Amino acid sequence: MARHLITSAIPYINGIKHLGNLIGSQLPADLYARFQRARGHEVLFLCATDEHGTPAELAAAKSGKPVADYCAEMHGVQAEIAKGFRLSFDHFGRSSSPQNHALTQHFAGQLDKAGLIREVSEKQVYSHADGRFLPDRYIEGTCPNCAYDKARGDQCENCTKQLDPTDLIDPRSAISGSTDLEVRETKHLYLRQSEMRGKLNDWIDSKGDWPLLTTSIAKKWLNDGEGLQDRGITRDLDWGIPVRNGTEDWPGMEGKVFYVWFDAPIEYIACAAEWAEANGKSDADWERWWRTDKGADDVRYTQFMGKDNVPFHTLSFPATILGSNEPWKLVDYIKSFNYLNYDGGQFSTSQGRGVFMDQALDILPADYWRWWLLSHVPESSDSEFNWENFQSSVNKDLADVLGNFVSRVTKFCRSKFDETVPAAGQWGAAEEALIAELTTRIHAYEGFMDAMEVRKSASELRAIWVAGNEYLQTVAPWTVFKQDPDAAAAQIRMALNLIRLYAVLSAPFIPDASASMLASMNCDDDSWPEDVTAALSHLPAGHAFDVPEVLFAKITDEDREGWQERFSGTRD
Ligand code: 2FM
Ligand code: ZN
Repeated sequence: MARHLITSAIPYINGIKHLGNLIGSQLPADLYARFQRARGHEVLFLCATDEHGTPAELAAAKSGKPVADYCAEMHGVQAEIAKGFRLSFDHFGRSSSPQNHALTQHFAGQLDKAGLIREVSEKQVYSHADGRFLPDRYIEGTCPNCAYDKARGDQCENCTKQLDPTDLIDPRSAISGSTDLEVRETKHLYLRQSEMRGKLNDWIDSKGDWPLLTTSIAKKWLNDGEGLQDRGITRDLDWGIPVRNGTEDWPGMEGKVFYVWFDAPIEYIACAAEWAEANGKSDADWERWWRTDKGADDVRYTQFMGKDNVPFHTLSFPATILGSNEPWKLVDYIKSFNYLNYDGGQFSTSQGRGVFMDQALDILPADYWRWWLLSHVPESSDSEFNWENFQSSVNKDLADVLGNFVSRVTKFCRSKFDETVPAAGQWGAAEEALIAELTTRIHAYEGFMDAMEVRKSASELRAIWVAGNEYLQTVAPWTVFKQDPDAAAAQIRMALNLIRLYAVLSAPFIPDASASMLASMNCDDDSWPEDVTAALSHLPAGHAFDVPEVLFAKITDEDREGWQERFSGTRD
């Protein structure tokens, strides 16, 4: 039995995520976690909300709530929606947890001890009206290069020139619009990650099996002059993890907090500690997942994320871990994804464009979304959600191929025999051929799932469903029954067992439908088919089953048009 530590990039707390966010990390991570559990491995699957930073503060202010209350509430909302999508996290934590406070402060202390922190005095814009320092992108003004009047302090989105806030003409606060700004001197901690270029390079080079998307982004950042500059890890904000050196005060850093991207990945570790606490476990129980001196050296750690997150996971977080000089587990494999677009444009949280996770569950159950998203995951390039494609995939794959198989077989059996697995007849050449095909295909499916080749896994699973349909089409028990009811009985016994087999194999993709299929087969043994012949004899003659409710309803043109219309604008 192997041990798999699996984390999904932790979603920002501000607002409900869209389907593009879901398919970019949480959903494929769930697929992998479910698969590894199904194979009998020990899995710790963690995710959390990413609660610090200016966007969280601003969202809280907009909602009129204290930021801590806002985060607690939104954590509850996101946790509920995650359940709705059947994301099987062992724990859904919070980056604002006491565990993350302690660990983040601990890492900063270790990095300091290793000589990897330096203090830097810099000038930053303070807004009197807002009573705070403004991050660069919250200062707006006129671009000195193209005269665009809504340029941000970090970049002009009109001419793409990189800017410093002090370059802007007539600067104002993007939060309040106030022009009562002042440039003040402030001190920050910088992580000397440039010192670690060699170590990071060697480490990345040792990961020859990583997906190209991951390594190409990592290498680009590593070798590009901009990429591995020393990085400020503190901010002048109220909300966040107070800057401390381990458990000690950090002179000169009073009132400052760590930068959100410093503490967010440390939450992967803290989340394991939260999981232990929530489940009455000890420190040793979570440390065996994270400390190589305490049992984690045989853990396989896989991270899932969108491509924009790759530099933080290939460089910054490893720099934190390596720089600590402590035996923390480093990631073994980083699976990253491209972007999912929405109907000819981009999904956008700020503009409310696309389908959001709560809205999706309002209109259809999770499995419909899970299947479409996973089978169209933006793996080798960006991909696009559009309603026609969604309708046709759901109708073909789920309703026609899988759902129809289940319904046909169970109804035929009920009408010609009864609601038990028929006993008569022997399997022959057609069944042997089917078993041979399934053996090959299941092997391929396992290989793709192990390798996190999500699209290939989905198409192999679909091919496994199709094989059952083709078998049924070829042997045609409804015709055979007229001359040779015993032969038809053997064919239906095979087909009923296929339903159970499909339930087990499909569960990582469509867990609810799989559970219904197993329940209708009156079976709670969902063990993985190590041997296909044995798995297809699992339901014995005389075993009672039920004809299930329709597994997947077809999406009508009317439904599609209605949704197309409803989701064509922006969410308020
Ligand atoms: O891009 C995002 O949604 C970030 N909140 C991901 C953070 S992942 C990690 F580092 F914690
Ligand atoms: Zn410009």
